[in-house]
Amino acid sequence: MLDQQTRDIIKATIPVLEQHGTTITKTFYQNMFSAHPELLNVFNKTNQKQGRQPMALASTVLAAAKHIDNLGAILPHVTQIGHKHRALEIKPEHYPIVGENLLNAIKAVLGEAATPEIIDAWRKAYGVIADVFIQVEHSMYANAAWTGYQPFKVVNKRTVSDQIVEFTVKPDFPLPHLQAGQYITVRVQPEGEENTAWRHYSLCSINTTEGIKFAVKREGAGELKGLVSHYLHDHIKIGDTLDLTAPAGDFLLEQNHKPLVFISGGVGITPLLAMLEQQVQTNPQREIHWIHSCRHADNHAFKKEVDALLAKAAYAQQHVIYTAQQSRIDADFMHRYLPKDAQIYVCGSMPFMEGMIKLLQQQGWSETDIHFEPFGPKMSVVSV
Ligand SMILES: Cc1cc2nc3c(=O)[nH]c(=O)nc-3n(C[C@H](O)[C@H](O)[C@H](O)COP(=O)(O)OP(=O)(O)OC[C@H]3O[C@@H](n4cnc5c(N)ncnc54)[C@H](O)[C@@H]3O)c2cc1C
Ligand code: HEM
Repeated sequence: MLDQQTRDIIKATIPVLEQHGTTITKTFYQNMFSAHPELLNVFNKTNQKQGRQPMALASTVLAAAKHIDNLGAILPHVTQIGHKHRALEIKPEHYPIVGENLLNAIKAVLGEAATPEIIDAWRKAYGVIADVFIQVEHSMYANAAWTGYQPFKVVNKRTVSDQIVEFTVKPDFPLPHLQAGQYITVRVQPEGEENTAWRHYSLCSINTTEGIKFAVKREGAGELKGLVSHYLHDHIKIGDTLDLTAPAGDFLLEQNHKPLVFISGGVGITPLLAMLEQQVQTNPQREIHWIHSCRHADNHAFKKEVDALLAKAAYAQQHVIYTAQQSRIDADFMHRYLPKDAQIYVCGSMPFMEGMIKLLQQQGWSETDIHFEPFGPKMSVVSV
């Protein structure tokens, strides 16, 4: 527990640091990568370029500092971030590196205003925040289905829509039980790239008979073509090996009596497909509403699989929206087709998620009943 004086200094300096957030973050990453170039293998280069992730780490430290009197309040966020850290092999020894570079960035940006008392207070606060993360992540490492990156052989690769391919990969050890909603992390080093690159992909089935299945959408084109998705589509073939870390994530199906609503956009269908499979296996009696939106029929992935699973449910409704021909999901659609008291699972691109969550909240669905998994940093959709 931090002493009162330290906590007072932290609280008094948060607004100034927030005001300089972008400069601190930029300085922080620049310095950290020049002192520790090996970390370029661990951070997502595209997220850095787009500025989506850079804000997340440093600004979350600041946000956590706001709750320094009661860090328990941010535990759900720590858990969500902790899953990503565990999936990326972030270890306790990395925390002092981040801490030192963050403090140096604060010093560099605030100049003389960063008195030794202020820096000392932030060193202590960072230590306390880092310990919470390290503790949470410790139990995640202990419970992980396997250790670190392990080689998996690609045993199948099939096209499931005009932009999406599904990979089935098998390790040389028995596969554990999988939980729908979780994601695996794939690490590759495309030719010509100095660093390795990783990406998360949601499990699209919990059935491990053939191996682990995940599906990848080809992202972007031309100069802005997605690094890993294009590499997987164009270069990875049956018989190749991919390195994977164990499933992670807290986007999990809650079992209760409420009707279940799945809302997906495009490739966001992947974790919901696994959830649908899990639901009809464990309790086919539960009421299910399946809503999927994509541009047109050629984009519509996993149509046959979804139809077959919904046919096993005692009560199921399905709505498919082809946005090239039909109007998008709006308030009127929600009122007409969604049960009022339901558990809702949403997944899709960042703009799709933001739109759906806003609509659901505006139409009165309770925040505790809305579960979502953005295919990017979650902190850009929620705030601590
Ligand atoms: C929890 C989780 C689960 C996920 N599950 C899935 C899944 O099941 N299936 C799936 O396909 N994806 C999934 N994703 C997304 C996936 O991890 C990758 O983000 C995705 O494959 C894109 O990676 P990439 O390397 O191809 O693109 P990146 O190189 O990371 O580029 C991302 C986007 O930015 C654009 N871009 C690239 N460079 C620039 C630049 N300089 N300036 C501006 N824009 C640029 C690209 O066009 C592309 O659209 C998931 C993500 C998360 C966080
Ligand atoms: C208390 C300290 C830390 C905080 C508050 C923090 C916070 C965050 C947040 C908010 C995210 C985004 C999560 C998401 O995608 O939803 C993230 C991702 C990440 N963190 Fe941390 N983090 C901390 C420490 C570290 C350390 C020590 C490392 C390793 C050097 C690290 C490496 C990463 C990486 C590589 C990602 C994914 C980045 C990406 O998408 O490019 N973090 N962290």
